[in-house]
Amino acid sequence: MTEILPLVVVTGANSGLGLQTAKHLLLKGYAVLLACRNLSKAIEAQQWLHEQTGKQQTQIGELDLGSLQSIRDFASQCPSDVYGLVCNAGLQYDSGLRKTLDGFEETFGVNHLGHFLLTNLLLKKSPSLQRIAIVSSALHDSSIKSPVPGPNYTSPREMAFPAESTPSDGKIAGERYSTSKLCNLYFAYELVERLQAAGREGVLVNAFNPGLIPGTGLGRNSSGFTKFLWYYVMPFMSFLIPGMSTTDRSGEHLADLIDDVDTTGKYYDIGKVTPSSDESYLPERRMELWEESVKLVGLTEEEQWS
Ligand SMILES: NC(=O)c1ccc[n+]([C@@H]2O[C@H](COP(=O)([O-])OP(=O)(O)OC[C@H]3O[C@@H](n4cnc5c(N)ncnc54)[C@H](OP(=O)(O)O)[C@@H]3O)[C@@H](O)[C@H]2O)c1
Repeated sequence: MTEILPLVVVTGANSGLGLQTAKHLLLKGYAVLLACRNLSKAIEAQQWLHEQTGKQQTQIGELDLGSLQSIRDFASQCPSDVYGLVCNAGLQYDSGLRKTLDGFEETFGVNHLGHFLLTNLLLKKSPSLQRIAIVSSALHDSSIKSPVPGPNYTSPREMAFPAESTPSDGKIAGERYSTSKLCNLYFAYELVERLQAAGREGVLVNAFNPGLIPGTGLGRNSSGFTKFLWYYVMPFMSFLIPGMSTTDRSGEHLADLIDDVDTTGKYYDIGKVTPSSDESYLPERRMELWEESVKLVGLTEEEQWS
């Protein structure tokens, strides 16, 4: 008889951190649903995971976090016995203004709104959902020294629909990424409050900073020299750059937020609970972001779980 293993959905599981997290989850005895926007990349990832782990317990689901319809289709086809959810997928640009299919600025739309809708739909669909890990970044904190500018939270509507006349320079594109990672924390902390208010305190939600991991697909949208540094120089400079990690190491710690965790509402800096920035704990911001996100993604009464 085939053993039924607890099922974990990993978004963006076809590359980088998500792929390694899926590997560690398989090795820890879970079944993994690879939630990916590109099915041929997902099939390649699935083959690689089977070879690396000797485990076959994977499924593939098509999920484009830049499309509200795709997220709803994914959730409706998803099994109703999901145990864990890893909100990992993400993208970053260093210039330009791009939009999702629904017209949201893409960084905010995919990194925050897409996961916001997905998580709510799965909480409704899967009473068995017990563990949620949300991937943020050290860049959520404006006091971090980095060439990427810190967050610039304005209002959810402005972040979703920035004025067309906004100059699309590198500073603004960098701010959009950092802001989306700050939004990941507001979302995680508000979700914990709402789960407790709804009597679902058994669902443990934690946020995660994987550290700096150069060489992943996150650099694909960068321009010439930055891209060269990301792929060919920085991966070999771990001795010079503090806070650097690897997809394998951080993937194992991220898998632990599903497999071996008893906290909720915490921010893990790779493997260690750490306070996130003061700005990330502003209650009025997290409430505002939640309420406006409900409107932006059109979450209906029927789709709400609380
Ligand atoms: N690398 C770092 O230094 C670093 C540092 C801090 C935080 N992070 C965070 O770590 C997470 C993983 O990033 P990574 O470094 O592993 O980069 P990555 O290799 O580019 O992985 C990102 C994944 O997200 C997927 N994705 C992008 N847009 C999507 C969409 N619209 N719908 C569904 N999936 C989508 C990508 O799919 P495709 O292959 O189809 O594009 C890919 O599988 C991100 O949330 C990132 O913000 C990374």
